[in-house]
Amino acid sequence: MDNFELYNPVKLIFGKGEISKISDNINKNLKVLLTYGGGSIMNNGIYKQVKNALKDYNVIEFGGIEANPQFNTLMKAVKLARKEKIDFILAVGGGSVIDGSKFLSVAIPFKGDEWSILTGKAKIELGIPLGTVLTLPATGSEMNSGAVISRKELNEKRAFVNPFCFPKFSILDPYVVASLPKRQIRNGVVDAFVHVLEQYITYPNNAPLQDRIAESILITLSEIGADVIKDPKDYNLASNLMWCATMALNGLISKGVPSDWGTHMIGHELTSLYGMDHGQSLAIIGPNLYLKLFDSKKEKLAQYGRRVWNLKGNNNAVAKEAIKYTQDFFSDMGMKTRISELTDNYNHAPQVVFDKFTKRNWLKLGEQGLITPQIAKEIVEMSI
Ligand code: NZQ
Ligand code: ZN
Repeated sequence: MDNFELYNPVKLIFGKGEISKISDNINKNLKVLLTYGGGSIMNNGIYKQVKNALKDYNVIEFGGIEANPQFNTLMKAVKLARKEKIDFILAVGGGSVIDGSKFLSVAIPFKGDEWSILTGKAKIELGIPLGTVLTLPATGSEMNSGAVISRKELNEKRAFVNPFCFPKFSILDPYVVASLPKRQIRNGVVDAFVHVLEQYITYPNNAPLQDRIAESILITLSEIGADVIKDPKDYNLASNLMWCATMALNGLISKGVPSDWGTHMIGHELTSLYGMDHGQSLAIIGPNLYLKLFDSKKEKLAQYGRRVWNLKGNNNAVAKEAIKYTQDFFSDMGMKTRISELTDNYNHAPQVVFDKFTKRNWLKLGEQGLITPQIAKEIVEMSI
């Protein structure tokens, strides 16, 4: 096992009716910027619950943060927040609203070019405190310090991580799942599943506890995934999905073990090229990445096949079959498995990925540095 440090200061408040606890967790003297997305919270009662909890506060609102949050939209919120001198941000939404609000947290007090926060060149010294009410279990953003922001005119989707971006608190009421469109639940199950795979399908590292926690999340997701899509109003299913998604990316299972993240980095390019949903991009790239990097990942693939999918046989056969089971699981959940099922405009995609990885100097991604721009290009070719 590798050395590690574990730090996660997020106060998680989980369960029915807990949205009212917002007021126990934000000081009444603070001026609050309430951020949200395209309006789903107006239709499912979440906005009403949040406003009720905020009735004694001075609140400024900023709505309209889109899925795959856009830098230009967020910069409007930065201007508003600077003018209004806000002290606290309350993000109410899925990963996009939460990520967008994490960017606001560090961009509002930042002096300099705010895009440098995404390119990794900025020295971030301040962050406005942030709380969240999660409305879509998927990204784990509610309990981590990462965020992913897109910038259309540059065709970019970039991630950053900063300790100021850990929410002070996150409220997870599984009732929010009831109003989710099936497409978003599917995205959520696959995103959480692939988060675990990114931190697990690497190479053995003498970390049986991390492995077994990862496998527990994968088994639970494989057991409940289809059912929660069928019946999102089932509170028990919804609460188990929500807890799995948070546990999949709150930093715990990656401690002391290698991580890959190649599927995400390539998947982000499909989103910036085609506006493809994040979960959908992972369902397409993941299995092909495992096929391409089979030799370096086969021991963990075999372990995964045996323990998660109960497969039997020799290591090579089980590892291969495990990839097929993963792809079938995604497809049973209603995901497309090829780029060409979603767009006709795919010929240039492999070269775009090659050029972008090269330009960013991403020459050796993955746990063993095997994902060169050429390998990333070949994975996209296999995914067409
Ligand atoms: O905008 P509104 O109207 O709220 O509608 C949203 C949006 O259209 C809707 N929605 C959310 N909660 C709902 C609901 N509709 C009905 N009822 C509810 N309760 O769902 C749509 C998608 O929302 P979005 O926030 O975009 O989805 P998700 O949570 O999957 O977030 C995706 C974003 O997170 C990033 C992705 O790249 C993508 O930009 N990620 C963030 C990560 C992180 N911070 O750790 C890690 C992930 O790997 C991921 O990259
Ligand atoms: Zn993800």
